[in-house]
Order: sequence, then structure tokens, then C-alpha cells
Amino acid sequence: NANGVKAGKTRNILEKMEESGKNCIVFYGSQTGTAEDYASRLAKEGKSRFGLETMVADLEDYDYENLDALPNDKLIVFVLATYGEGEPTDNAVDFYEFITGDDVSFSESREAPLDNLNYVAFGLGNNTYEHYNSMVRNVDKALQKLGANRLGVAGEGDDGAGTMEEDFLAWKDPMWAAVAEKMGLEEREAVYEPIFGIVDREGLTKDSVEVYVGEPNKMHLEGTAKGPFNAHNPYIAPITESRELFSVKDRHCLHMEVDISGSNLTYQTGDHIAIWPTNPGEEVDRFLNVIGLADKRNDVIGVKALEPTAKVPFPTPTTYDAIVRYHMEICSPVSRQFLATLAAFAPDEATKAEMTKLGGDKDYFHEKISVHHLNIAQVLSSVSKGQTWKNIPFSALIEGVTKLQPRYYSISSSSLVQPKKISITAVVESQMIPGRGDPFRGVATNYLFALKQKQNGDPNPEPFGLTYEITGPRNKYDGIHVPVHVRHSNFKLPSDPSKPVILIGPGTGVAPFRAFVQERAKQAADGENVGRTLLFFGCRKKNEDFLYASQWEEFKKALGDKFELITAFSREGAKKVYVQHRLKERAEEVNELLQKKAYFYVCGDAANMAREVNAVLAQIIAEQRGISEAKAEEIVKNMRAANQYQEDVWS
Ligand code: FAD
Ligand code: 2AM
Repeated sequence: NANGVKAGKTRNILEKMEESGKNCIVFYGSQTGTAEDYASRLAKEGKSRFGLETMVADLEDYDYENLDALPNDKLIVFVLATYGEGEPTDNAVDFYEFITGDDVSFSESREAPLDNLNYVAFGLGNNTYEHYNSMVRNVDKALQKLGANRLGVAGEGDDGAGTMEEDFLAWKDPMWAAVAEKMGLEEREAVYEPIFGIVDREGLTKDSVEVYVGEPNKMHLEGTAKGPFNAHNPYIAPITESRELFSVKDRHCLHMEVDISGSNLTYQTGDHIAIWPTNPGEEVDRFLNVIGLADKRNDVIGVKALEPTAKVPFPTPTTYDAIVRYHMEICSPVSRQFLATLAAFAPDEATKAEMTKLGGDKDYFHEKISVHHLNIAQVLSSVSKGQTWKNIPFSALIEGVTKLQPRYYSISSSSLVQPKKISITAVVESQMIPGRGDPFRGVATNYLFALKQKQNGDPNPEPFGLTYEITGPRNKYDGIHVPVHVRHSNFKLPSDPSKPVILIGPGTGVAPFRAFVQERAKQAADGENVGRTLLFFGCRKKNEDFLYASQWEEFKKALGDKFELITAFSREGAKKVYVQHRLKERAEEVNELLQKKAYFYVCGDAANMAREVNAVLAQIIAEQRGISEAKAEEIVKNMRAANQYQEDVWS
């Protein structure tokens, strides 16, 4: 059906809990997989420490009209990410609308319809955004209003401050204490119980037709991939162009175009494209070596969920190599809780003691691990002094290592100009981090860089010394294809092109604005009345990282005086000059345009730039209109609410 639910699968929570013998459901509202991860961790911990019968569930897989009939001896856990401008994640939209709606109605009508419902809640947010953790706050408020009983406090994790993991760890212990008390649970010595069973499939080799060696699903395995292409089913898009916009030591910027004409994918100017990356061979080797599976990497295994409600996060039968290369986020910084879990499988007592200390002592973990951004394999091999970790059950790794996530990019082409070709503008960096041994290299960007080298027939296919399996599983991608899907966004030009726009996009933040200006240039060339288009772009130096310098001139030919590019080169003079400084210099015109209902857009760095631009805009409005800053801030808020101020930001 429309929700992609398999026939015969119930959407009734009560029925599901009864038939599976569960007394605790951990629901997640997740966009990039972090909330889903935390949900799994909570479910595991509830089971191993307190004997709760837990299951993890996707919010979009159930209906909520009978939440009021849930008996009082059950527990519901909500792990809710807030996305973008305070929106629910895609999978939480229906639940959110239901529970916060004015006309929420349940099967029975009571004064406090959810007075039997016990719940706990944790939110994942980013304080650099206006609506910090609004999902968990609003859901909690709605549940309270409906009479539900929250155990412990509603936790809030802050990605903006970089404290998500510690916020989560600090929240969960008092929460468990409250749950244990309310539900009369005894804490027990945590024992590891695998969720997945691994069986050797001896008759099969990695070349057998039924073995997945990186194909994302059955259609891809059978070579019959077809749409809809989405977050579960990527389109293997041909790369039609790939070049460097600039290249300086350890920093490159790619412009890449993919052709979607062979698919039924569509996009609109301002949307995002997701790239499905592959891990670099060096990191795959490091991981397989430290867990002692390097020489079994091509053995074929089957993976089975031992719990009826658990889902194997990749298709099987498959190989260890394929799981690690295509499905595990092995390069990201490791979590403290995962180290604590793995201590039990240490190769000797000294290693076990060190892992326990790292897992238990926040400051020690920070000093030894966090500041160096070490990944799981780096930590395991350094703590064990090079010994392999043969005792870790592979199930514990499937459960503990995050699923490899697609990365989103703001599409830098206009769908009006090139409806079937999507362009990406991405910066590839190699960062030296003290105490880390080797530099940190982003997964997706370095993979894209490797694809570029191949596309251009460059003799040096190893950017920053990394090797990728760029030809994909069974060499199907040919090195010049990349798996993608498109995600719709609300970051949109006004439908009336005569409206003025002010665009603020330093660095790769200029990506969607290249699309915006390209679109308006086309509209102007077609004789439409296009409004003033002010683009504020910032970079380090005019001759170093000035993106699309010659294209702006092209667009200017069509747009004439309607278009103006205002640059801020931050590293040319004695003082830093940023886009917000330039914005201030143009205060009078900016204010006039806003009074003519100009749309204001900001794209790029969420942590500092977007916030500072917001503050400067409020100052401009206050000064120009002779009103207080508080009043001006209110005006900016209202602009946001009316979509006249739009952000496309990331950290
Ligand atoms: P990852 O491997 O994901 O690492 C990302 C960053 O995390 C690293 O650069 C580093 O700072 C840190 N990090 C993670 N692990 C470690 C570690 N072990 N050690 C040290 N540091 C670590 N990017 C663009 O270039 N252009 C765009 O147009 C663009 N648009 C976006 C739009 C949206 C809506 C979003 C959400 C993001 C956008 N991004 C864009 C960012 C992009 O999605 C990626 O985050 C970025 O390209 C880095 O991905 P990666 O896989 O190369 O790096
Ligand atoms: P910097 O690196 O010299 O400090 C694109 O990254 C551009 O954004 C660079 O010129 C960078 O300058 C600049 N930048 C860095 N921090 C910023 C901030 N807080 N606000 C606006 N621009 C910023």
C-alpha cells in the first residue's frame, strides 16, 4: 500500500505487542539514522539491564488511534529528531500531525484519554536552529495534555554543541531509574544476547548469483532495478560531468552532474540529492583486520534476526567485506557506550580494564578518543595494542555500528534549465587532527573525488591516498555511475519571478543559489519580468576558492542590472570580511527590498554563519526602520514563519 507496508503486517500497536509478547516499544522519528540508532540502543539496554521485552519501531509503521487502550504495564519510548526548521522527520509526519492535532480522537472518549500511557522521550536537535528540539517538546506537551505519564524528564540532545552523545548518556540513567521504579523492574547484570544469528553459507561464493556483494536490494541484485527511487532504493545514475572548481592543498571543490533521464526521478530547484557512498578500502581493511575477519572477508554468510521484531539492516546472503564496505558507518567517531559494550569481548584483562574505563569515564573518553575523532577500528587496535578482537560476536557489530548513511547535497542546478541533469557542488577536505595518526577524510566526498578521477581518466585514482571500489558491486557501476536519490525540500524560489530575492551563500552554501540564479537567468532570457537578485558570496580569496566565477558573468548577461554579485573575500586583507559584513554595508537597499516583500535565503554553515546573518538582518531592520532590536527580531521571526526567510543549512 501507500506506506510500503507489507500485506499482513499489522499497524495496530496493541495487537503487535500482544502477538510478539513485548511490553516496551521504542519508536523512532529519524532522518539520518541517529535517532534510529539511539532507539536500538535503548531497546537493547532495557532488555539486557532490566529484562524488558523491547522492540524498536518506525513511527510510520503504526496507527495511533488506540494508544488510549494500551494497558498501564506497558512502556512507550519516543526518540525524536527535529529536522530542518523545526519539522518532524519524514517518517514522523503522520504521527506528529495526529498527536499534536486539535482534533486528536481516540477509540474511547475520556477526559484524559492517555492516562494509562507510560512514556519516556528523548529529542535530537541542534541549538543553532531556531526551533531547537521542537519535535520532542511539542510531542511531550501534547502527550501531557492528553494525560499520559512521563517517566523521568524529556531529554534533549544537542548536535549544535557537539554534546549529543553525552546528553543522551546523562539523560538515560535517571530515566531508567524512574522506569524501573514505576514498572517494578529489578536491574540485573547485563548479559549480551545477540539479536542476529550468523550462519556460514558454505555452498556459496561471492560470485554466486544470489549473493549480495553491495547491491542495495533484490532488484539491484537481479539487475531489474526500477523506481520509485528513494531512501530504500537508489538510482544508479550515470555521471555526465565531473570537474574541480578549485584545488588547493588538501582542499578541492567538485562540480558533478548526474543524468536522471533513465529513471522516473524528478527534482525541483532547491531540492536535495542524496549520494550513497562506499567506504574506502583502507578503512575496510583496518576494520576487518582488527576483528580478525580479514582472511574470511569473502566468506558467504546468512544473517537472521533472532527476534521477530528485529530487522537485518542489509540484504543477505552476503560477505563480511560487502557488509563493512557498503553498509557500516565505520569511519565516524565511536561512541562511549559502544566501547563499554565491547569491553566484555576484549582479548585480555588489561584491554578489558581500559575499555571499561573509556566507556565509563566521560572525561577520560573525551581526552583519549573524542578530541582525536578516532573511529572504532582505530580505538580497538590501539587499546588492545594491535591484538585482534576475535571474541566480538559479529551480531554485536551489526547492532553497534551505525548503518552507512547517504549524504545530502543541495542541488546546484535549476530544474527549469536542466530537468534531467542534477548538479552537485561539494568540498572535499583532508583534515589533520593532532594525535590521530592519519588525516580525517570524509566518506562521501572522497568517494566522489575518486569517481571524478576515474571519470576524467586521471592517472592518480587515489585522492589523499584512499582506494575505493568505485566500480560498485560486480563492477556494475563502471566507475562512472553513482547511487543517488532525490529528497524534496521547502527551500524554494517565490513562484512569482518578479519578486526580489536576497541570497546569502558563502562557500558551498552557494550551491542552491547557482540553481536559483541559473533559473532566473533563463526566465529573463524567456522574456519574463524577473525581480532584483542580490547574491552575497564569501570565500577565502578571489584567486583561490571563488566558485563559479565565470558563470556569474554568463548569468549577468541575461539578467543585466537585475543581478548583482557581492563578494566577501575573507583572507585577502588584514581583517576578515564575511557576507554579513557586506550585507550590513547594503543595509538601505536590503531594507527597501524587504519592504517590497523580497524573499531572503541563507545557505551553508549552520553553526555560526546562519546565526550571525540572522542577527545582522535584525540589526539592519532596526536601524533602517528606527525600531528596537527586539521588535526587529520579531519581524525576522515572522518572516521565517511566512516563508519569506528560508534556510538550507547544515553543520
Ligand atoms: P563524513 O565522513 O560524513 O564526515 C563529516 C564531517 O564530520 C567531517 O568533515 C568531519 O568534520 C566530521 N567527522 C566525522 N567523522 C570524523 C572523524 N572520525 N574524525 C574527524 N572528523 C570527523 N556539502 C557540500 O559540500 N555541498 C552541499 O551543497 C551540501 N548540501 C547539504 C545539504 C543538506 C541538507 C545537508 C544536511 C548537508 C549538506 N552538505 C553539503 C554536507 C554533506 O551532506 C556532507 O555532510 C559533507 O559532504 C561531508 O560528508 P562526508 O561523507 O565526506 O564526511
Ligand atoms: P574564513 O575561513 O577565512 O574564516 C566560506 O567558507 C567562507 O565563509 C570563507 O571565506 C570563510 O572565512 C567564511 N566564514 C567563516 N566563518 C564565517 C561566519 N561565521 N560567517 C560568515 N562567513 C564565515
